[in-house]
Amino acid sequence: MIPFNIPPCVGTEVETIKQAISNRKICGDGAFTKRCQRWIEDKTGTNKALLTTSGTDALEMAALLCDIRPGDEVILPSYTFSSTANAFVLFGAKLVFVDIRPNTMNTNEHLIENAITEKTKVIVPVHYAGVACEMDTIMDVARRYNLLVVYYKGRALGTIGDFGCYSFHETKNYSMGEGGAVLVNNPTFVERAEIVREKGTNRSRFLRGQIDKYTWVDCGSSYLPSELNAAYLWAQLEKADEINENRLETWNYYYEHLKPLADAGKLELPHIPSECEHNAHMFYVKLKNLQERTAFIAYLKKQGVQSVFHYIPLHSAPAGLKFGRFSGEDVFTTNESERLARLPMYYGMTEKDRQTVIRTVKGFFEG
Ligand SMILES: Cc1ncc(COP(=O)(O)O)c(C=O)c1O
Repeated sequence: MIPFNIPPCVGTEVETIKQAISNRKICGDGAFTKRCQRWIEDKTGTNKALLTTSGTDALEMAALLCDIRPGDEVILPSYTFSSTANAFVLFGAKLVFVDIRPNTMNTNEHLIENAITEKTKVIVPVHYAGVACEMDTIMDVARRYNLLVVYYKGRALGTIGDFGCYSFHETKNYSMGEGGAVLVNNPTFVERAEIVREKGTNRSRFLRGQIDKYTWVDCGSSYLPSELNAAYLWAQLEKADEINENRLETWNYYYEHLKPLADAGKLELPHIPSECEHNAHMFYVKLKNLQERTAFIAYLKKQGVQSVFHYIPLHSAPAGLKFGRFSGEDVFTTNESERLARLPMYYGMTEKDRQTVIRTVKGFFEG
């Protein structure tokens, strides 16, 4: 079976983990954590990047720093991972889902303003498949209504809103198994972000030698990952270009070889807006409807290729019904999500496996 995902491994991870062990520092905020954070800061230009134990925790930190209180409203797409919503619900937020654009599967930026009420506090755009939302429009609405903006995404981007949240889960371009990062783009939140992440203490200032002992100063939690995980991630960040190039090769190969099927109206391919550079996080195709997608996934499985669907819209999930409402009409969220199937995509995919995937997809349409 050609799997849908293989966790990225560049080959030097055991060496970096051994280094962490010989540094005699395996709790959080050691040398590898610092290297990873500096790398993210240099690459993105953010003020402050803080590694976290997951993307979920990066979002929880952002929700805490946004000072979400019971009854506050958060605007987000329904087509996203549960963590995007859950992080805010934990602090008592009410979810307001808006519809997506059918071409990128991202929040339709033009629907946000209509969803704003006097209780709205935060907008959470999600860059699906590593393709950016229309951030100019979203930031313009946010500034006009004085709202905070938190991003959730898998990789790159994340520097335009007040907070950017990354995941380094094993399904992501770079990984540490479970992990993430919060980018604190708005400098007014940096000091509190460090405190929140370190169990409500000012230990970060102590570690920098700015105070001679540390103490409990605010509420917080333990959001910092072990050095062992950071060491695994560091090996991959050192080879980030190689990982991205390799994934892009697979992405472009799929696109080029499936284009004739798309031109013949058999399926739809991902849309990359001309102003966006994507990171080949994911390759999906869209079938006619749910029935055809089910047959497609089953056919590929029988031929030894694992294809998977993606999010089941949150507004129709039990917790979504309980904690949220849909603003306006669900024109695209449910319909488009039911048509989408993801193809195998991982670092180090062989030429032979790429060819098998394409041959199998073509085989489905040739009957
Ligand atoms: C099963 C599963 N768990 C967790 C995650 C991501 O977790 P997090 O955003 O907390 O890093 C994903 C993918 O986004 C996933 O597919």
